[in-house]
Amino acid sequence: MRTKLIAGNWKMNGSKPMVRELIAGILSRLDAGQSSDVMVLPPYPYVPLANSLLENTPVLLGAQDLSRHDSGAHTGEVAGSMLSDVGCSHVLVGHSERRNLYGEDNALVAAKFAAAQAAGLQPILCVGETLEERQAGQTDSVVRAQVDAVLSSSGVAAFSRAIVAYEPVWAIGTGQSATPDQAQSVHAMIRAHLAEEDAIIAGRLRILYGGSVKPDNAAELLEREDIDGGLIGGASLSADGFMAIYQAAG
Ligand code: 13P
Repeated sequence: MRTKLIAGNWKMNGSKPMVRELIAGILSRLDAGQSSDVMVLPPYPYVPLANSLLENTPVLLGAQDLSRHDSGAHTGEVAGSMLSDVGCSHVLVGHSERRNLYGEDNALVAAKFAAAQAAGLQPILCVGETLEERQAGQTDSVVRAQVDAVLSSSGVAAFSRAIVAYEPVWAIGTGQSATPDQAQSVHAMIRAHLAEEDAIIAGRLRILYGGSVKPDNAAELLEREDIDGGLIGGASLSADGFMAIYQAAG
């Protein structure tokens, strides 16, 4: 049985008062009757503050990106070991905003995935097609290629210490979520593809859905067989909205 995970990607939003308020709101709405895990992914500067506020709580902490390099002359970059050092257990790699706005290709994303694991972090590998790719019938091949880049460099065993997030680019921040059928179909395809390499690892892998998940559409997405949680953008900036999604996950 895969435990669901509700993760809040705050993107480039926040301030110290906002971090304090949001985390207090999340902690006050945790419910011992719910089995889902909760994670927050603040911008880098707020990771230490979030870590101190989350001490001795079950809420997980992740970062939104990392460098492919370990240390040295890479001005402006942040190494995975530094993220571990300040309390992160997880890190996003290959978010579509990194791919599309900052030119990250599959090879760089695969290198970041490996760098995260080398630093003891669990990567959350983000994959997803653009609207043009979906309309051209290329969804499965695009997503498969994104997964394959990591599979060929890190191997299937690496997926036992990772999470995948399917985030169709056209659904991110648009208010237009994938339908539960559309999301389930891609999630099942990813799992089946990995199962060709290792059925046990594929069966245990958590595959999150992201893209306009809101309190009012969360339940129908999260009840689908291969949807193991949500990667929430806009709705994670309100404790009420984010924790309503957590409640919907059960
Ligand atoms: P939205 O929930 O705002 O669509 O963002 C999704 C996302 O990109 C999470 O990583």
